Amino acid sequence: MSRKKVIAANWKLYKNTAASNEFFTAFLPLVAGHDRDEIVICPTFLCIPAAVAATTASSVHIGGQNLYWKQEGAFTGEISAGMLHHAGCSHVIIGHSERRQYFHETDDTVNLKLKAALEAHLVPIVCVGEVLEEREAGLTEDVLRRQVQGALRGMSGEKAAALIVAYEPVWAIGTGKTATPAMAVEAHQVIRTEVAECLGDDHANTTRILYGGSVKPENANALMSEVEIDGALVGGASLDAVSFFKIVHW
Ligand code: PGA
Repeated sequence: MSRKKVIAANWKLYKNTAASNEFFTAFLPLVAGHDRDEIVICPTFLCIPAAVAATTASSVHIGGQNLYWKQEGAFTGEISAGMLHHAGCSHVIIGHSERRQYFHETDDTVNLKLKAALEAHLVPIVCVGEVLEEREAGLTEDVLRRQVQGALRGMSGEKAAALIVAYEPVWAIGTGKTATPAMAVEAHQVIRTEVAECLGDDHANTTRILYGGSVKPENANALMSEVEIDGALVGGASLDAVSFFKIVHW
């Protein structure tokens, strides 16, 4: 089963519109005609309209970094799945560990957000991953299973066909510590087994599972060469056009 790899950039709280435009001016010529992998860039909400305009004539997709599960209403400060879709986003990151850590997101809110994203025809990138203490206590498998199960509660394979999962060990995010390809593969297999239990084998075989956590031009090739690793979710190294281009060209 060959799955097209997805190389996604998570810009977090970096880049204003001017910096975002500068990035695309430098980046788009570098990836013109690159169709081996799907390229997704997730800027801040404010930069989405300009990023969508900059990339319409390219194969680069734009995604949100978060969403709220209600369509509309008195929810100050929130953005809905439908609004992201209407603005030209095709993807959305859900349940990033920074959202879980700093903004109290739980497996239950991830589940609500996932359902809302799918209903609005957005491709969800659901993040899961253990913290260092959990890995050291031998709990990685339990944590991954619980997070995947929680995210997919009440979902059918058909409904969740577009699902992408990102395995992001929290201890590897922004720390310069990367999981070895073997560690990532092992975790991806746990995730795929759990996806199979929730959605069925056929859907588990087509679900892309990305690795995230200090992916850099220097380690991208070793990670992306693994059949079990279906792409990367890249933070720090995606902010520079040349560095992200090198990862896309792993
Ligand atoms: P990093 O971030 O590449 O800077 O470690 C990855 C992420 O948080 O998605």
